[in-house]
Amino acid sequence: MISLSDVYGGYGGLDILSGFGIQVEKGSINCIVGPNGAGKSTVLKTLSGVLRPRRGSIVVDGIDLTGMSPTEIIRTGVVQVPQRHGLFATLTVRQNVMMGGYVDRRAAGRLRARYEELAGMFPLIAKRSAERAGSLSGGQRRIVEFARAMMLDPKVILLDEPTLGLDPQSRAVIHESTRAMNAMGTTILMVEQNVRFGLSLADRVTVMSAGAVVLEGTASEIADHPDLMGLFFGHAPEPRE
Ligand SMILES: Nc1ncnc2c1ncn2[C@@H]1O[C@H](COP(=O)(O)OP(=O)(O)OP(=O)(O)O)[C@@H](O)[C@H]1O
Ligand SMILES: [Mg+2]
Repeated sequence: MISLSDVYGGYGGLDILSGFGIQVEKGSINCIVGPNGAGKSTVLKTLSGVLRPRRGSIVVDGIDLTGMSPTEIIRTGVVQVPQRHGLFATLTVRQNVMMGGYVDRRAAGRLRARYEELAGMFPLIAKRSAERAGSLSGGQRRIVEFARAMMLDPKVILLDEPTLGLDPQSRAVIHESTRAMNAMGTTILMVEQNVRFGLSLADRVTVMSAGAVVLEGTASEIADHPDLMGLFFGHAPEPRE
């Protein structure tokens, strides 16, 4: 469903990605792991159109995204939740979630119905709808970002380090919410530095370093490569629960 082949690109003429490739199956959860600066966020930014690849191709569900603008890419059903928090602190939870529908100006009624559906799916959204986003915890803000990304019923959601800075309890809520989005039919491509979290969620895992893929396989195949993981992360992943 998602196919990146031989992608080169980065910032201002300097390549960060050097021949990166990944195949993601429809309806699956895929996770890219790798050390700081490996280019994980650069992969997601290239997919969402924030960065243009210098070379290579990006095809999602048969549509060639190479060279499209970020708004055009959102309209094809590919939505990114960025690494840095991106909510409007002084707006309410509901207002923030509704902003996820901004590229769809046709049907206000349809967006309101979609909001109600998401409020049913994420209990936090229903409970805290009238509160300002700025009053929520880091983990709660992530859920609002997820709901905002789900407003247009996307085919693909790109998650950049969803557990960054979160305590174990919030990580568990993120885990559950990611599964819930996947269960609604959304294909998930996520990036994680928390290898254990990534392995516990993903069907397939891609290990990248210095802008290229060094290992790819099922979560259990990757978990069984303690030497290589040790090489890249300084420690083997902890056993899965
Ligand atoms: N806006 C930018 N301009 C120039 N270089 C950048 C920019 N953003 C990132 N880089 C560089 O690109 C390389 C890859 O960065 P990227 O953010 O993709 O890494 P990452 O794997 O997501 O790392 P992290 O785990 O720290 O988020 C790094 O060397 C970084 O310094
Ligand atoms: Mg990053």
